[in-house]
Amino acid sequence: MKKDQLVTMEFIKDAFSLFNETSEKLEQAYHKLESRASELCSGMNEKETREREIRLQAMGWMVTKIVHDIRNPLGSIELISSLLQKELTGDQDKQELLGHIIYGVKNIDTVLSNLLHFTSFPRPRFEPVNLRMIIDSSLEVVSYLINKKDINVSIYVAEDIDIYCDKALMRQVFLNLFLNSLHAMSDHGDISIEVIHNRDNGEIEISVQDTGCGIEQEDIDKIFDPFFTTNEKGSGLGLTIVHNIISAHNGTINAYSKSGEGSLFVINLPSQGG
Ligand SMILES: Nc1ncnc2c1ncn2[C@@H]1O[C@H](COP(=O)(O)OP(=O)(O)OP(=O)(O)O)[C@@H](O)[C@H]1O
Ligand SMILES: [Mg+2]
Repeated sequence: MKKDQLVTMEFIKDAFSLFNETSEKLEQAYHKLESRASELCSGMNEKETREREIRLQAMGWMVTKIVHDIRNPLGSIELISSLLQKELTGDQDKQELLGHIIYGVKNIDTVLSNLLHFTSFPRPRFEPVNLRMIIDSSLEVVSYLINKKDINVSIYVAEDIDIYCDKALMRQVFLNLFLNSLHAMSDHGDISIEVIHNRDNGEIEISVQDTGCGIEQEDIDKIFDPFFTTNEKGSGLGLTIVHNIISAHNGTINAYSKSGEGSLFVINLPSQGG
């Protein structure tokens, strides 16, 4: 093997071990958070409410610290992997391997953002934002999985719609919905995103529909509950965060689904931020 190939392999090995280490840290942090949250919610009485608030605040600080510690090495992993991917244009196997790492890193970053939003109720910073731009940038994050699974994405945006919202929070909403749809589809399938501006009531309706596995009838009322998950590797926080973010924007979200027939999520938001 040539010297530069050896260096590349060393880089990939380093990136992998850093990645594993980071995933482990995240898993530990998540389990800690889950057990603390169930401890705090069980057997609560009025007298304990204040104490609970203080503990929740402390938990929020703990999560912020952990997320910060994990995000630093994560940034290096993504940077190294992206640089390597650019260098290895002729080597498809290694590019594929690096694609896995980059996608994994982005996935961990979404989980970290979910943890942050879960422990502190989102307070949107409203500004006029182009919805199409948020949708496109969220799709970009999951593009690796879209291509890998051969998913067809259609976007129908009635016009160039601007909305008063928090850009980063809305991105988090789309990311979670897209990731859920992608997880629900084993291979092939469609995701349709539709945005309609109802000028009569000033509302914007956003629908995200997929042709995935759908949701069992008995589960549909639980999907927005914290820690409800049917995914082996899921934390069950994604839709809770989505719901909290939409509520903080004075909007609503509803899910419609039948097992085996795909799912539809419909969000209604006031275009002026409410
Ligand atoms: N598009 C979808 N198709 C099928 N099931 C879905 C879909 N979206 C959500 N669900 C169901 O709702 C559950 C909760 O979703 P949620 O996003 O809150 O958690 P998760 O995806 O399991 O984990 P994570 O916290 O990593 O997002 C999922 O485990 C799945 O059972
Ligand atoms: Mg999810």
